[in-house]
Amino acid sequence: MKRLGVNIDHIATIRNARGENHPDPIFAAKFVKKSGADSITIHLREDRRHINDNDAKQICSINKLLVNLEISTNYKMVKSAIRLKPNFVCFVPENRKEITTEGGLNLKKNKIKLKKIISLFKKKKIRTSLFINPSLNDIKISKELKSDCIEIHTGRLSNLVKSNKNYANELKKIIKCSSLAHKLGLEVHAGHGLDYKTTKLLTKIKEIKEFNIGHYLVGESLFYGLPKIIKNFKRIINRK
Ligand code: PXP
Repeated sequence: MKRLGVNIDHIATIRNARGENHPDPIFAAKFVKKSGADSITIHLREDRRHINDNDAKQICSINKLLVNLEISTNYKMVKSAIRLKPNFVCFVPENRKEITTEGGLNLKKNKIKLKKIISLFKKKKIRTSLFINPSLNDIKISKELKSDCIEIHTGRLSNLVKSNKNYANELKKIIKCSSLAHKLGLEVHAGHGLDYKTTKLLTKIKEIKEFNIGHYLVGESLFYGLPKIIKNFKRIINRK
């Protein structure tokens, strides 16, 4: 079975728009799990734009909820993440002015730092993942760094599909990268910009074991409700 991770950052964004406590991301985390998600994802950003420290602390202590915590490789964030003890950690690049995570990590430039950080989390038995662009070289480096998983940034594919442009080459890149990563023993995840159509395209890649989806899923839920949309995505990702 392929797994669905639901990113609930956008629920914190709506809460923060009012500076009050509703909608509550902690309630959302429990509700999303009850609605069938296999895990939830939260991105504790350096600028605390959506999820804050208290949300992360409470969400990471919910019983039997698998939490995938996204963080940058900043040492302060690493220290916080180790204290929070999530089940999984995913390292992502961060840039103060970006609207969302715009690309994968620069592995080549940050090899030494990443290797150290990954080993810290592995010692704590926290599953590690690197958010990378679909590049064969980055897959090889991820293996060298001893990450457990890689998450392929699907933003470019999603943009091409949504704007009705030719996406064949980008899809081919993702297929090749998934295959190499799997051969090297890295678990393959995919995320960013995914909607029903792009998720359908990617479910054909058997090596992809986990999808992490946020913006579209939460947006659709405004109209049809979280349980229905989560069910739709679960059906899509496990369609043979
Ligand atoms: N995976 C990672 C590593 C992310 O950083 C994000 C959001 O920035 C997502 C998945 C989810 O992307 P989206 O909200 O576009 O579905």
